[in-house]
Amino acid sequence: MKSIVITGGAGFIGSHVVRLFVNKYPEYRIINLDKLTYAGNLANLKDIEDRPNYKFVKMDICDFDAFYKLMQDEHVDGIIHLAAESHVDRSIKDPFTFAQTNVMGTLSLLQAAKLYWESLPEKYEGKRFYHISTDEVYGALEMTHPEGIPAPFTTKASADSHPAYGEKFFTEDLKYQPHSPYSAAKASSDHFVRAFHDTYGMPTIVTNCSNNYGPYQFPEKLIPLFINNIRHRKPLPVYGKGENVRDWLYVEDHARAIDLIFHKGQIAETYNIGGFNEWKNIDIIKVVIKTVDRLLGRKEGEDMDLITYVTDRAGHDLRYAIDSRKLQRELGWEPSLQFEEGIERTVRWYLDNEAWMDNVTSGDYQKYYETMYANR
Ligand code: NAD
Ligand code: DAU
Repeated sequence: MKSIVITGGAGFIGSHVVRLFVNKYPEYRIINLDKLTYAGNLANLKDIEDRPNYKFVKMDICDFDAFYKLMQDEHVDGIIHLAAESHVDRSIKDPFTFAQTNVMGTLSLLQAAKLYWESLPEKYEGKRFYHISTDEVYGALEMTHPEGIPAPFTTKASADSHPAYGEKFFTEDLKYQPHSPYSAAKASSDHFVRAFHDTYGMPTIVTNCSNNYGPYQFPEKLIPLFINNIRHRKPLPVYGKGENVRDWLYVEDHARAIDLIFHKGQIAETYNIGGFNEWKNIDIIKVVIKTVDRLLGRKEGEDMDLITYVTDRAGHDLRYAIDSRKLQRELGWEPSLQFEEGIERTVRWYLDNEAWMDNVTSGDYQKYYETMYANR
């Protein structure tokens, strides 16, 4: 029996990881620890909330005493740490909150885990602190081929997919060069995690993943925001010229990678996670418009005139592109979904789950905790 804390489990990626672990490992005890900030939504986990191997705990990762007590009470063996402030635009307006949650919160978890695990007879044996990070810590890549070149690496899922927009990719040995307050805070948290391995021998792992897309993403991020705006025929704010490149991975493929790495990854290692799937923002936006139009029975492409070019994001990183060959080679992970299939599934999910979207945009979802959990 393992007792595993997943932080940020009420958020976008965290909810997929919690669902996967609760379903796949009935013998584990899965504790979802989440503060329920604006980004946390327990409605993301309705389908598994009554499972005997699942427990939700409302807690701030910065609350050292509460987390130390939880480690003791629940005899925690593993921590999968996803809780964070995650939106770049918010970090530009409010960097302090990002430093507090992403840096101090991570440090608080590390220190509590260290004190608890070191107090046990077996110490760090069988324990694991797995920190989920982002490709944004590496900074931005140059776009040496704006028209695109044949992708030098592929996976089965990306075999006939997209060009690369430069020769360079993010590899695990690159030096960190974060630009936004969000990525600076994530970079700092990554350094603390590695420092706890190097200094105290804590069994840590760090992974850096590219942009995720899929169901349950908060509609401040590009894809769900645009799907919802197209549905309501509201303007689509494209930053700058829409030429920035992101590397997109279906969220369930990220969750599968997290499961594999948590169980089979080498202690103290870093793994990059991505599917060799680069897209210019404007191209992905056109695919989303056409897909929403088609699924809503509108004329395909009729909503193109919603595209509205607006002032660029400050410090907007030009290109992200992950080299995930280490993870493929060492642990055999590959993304399972072609992008075209993933985006179709994603658009369909948001259109089929209007109530979820309307609850989030109206703010009603924040009442869910009170009604579902307050009297337990
Ligand atoms: P999200 O914003 O959807 O969810 C974050 C969750 O963390 C929410 O449930 C929120 O309530 C919780 N949280 C925030 N502050 C907290 C605190 N102080 N204490 C406890 N809980 C708190 O984020 P996401 O997109 O699911 O990202 C999850 C993790 O994955 C983050 O660490 C992010 O940096 C990383 N990541 C995200 C992406 C992506 O494309 N979304 C890509 C790579 C890495
Ligand atoms: O690369 C991984 C990162 O991906 C994660 O670490 C972050 O948590 C996650 O939010 C995401 O960051 P991005 O900034 O790339 O995601 P976002 O959805 O905010 O923006 C994607 C691209 O679209 C980016 O180039 C900015 C652009 N954009 C975004 C929004 C919200 C627009 O042009 N208009 C918009 O309204």
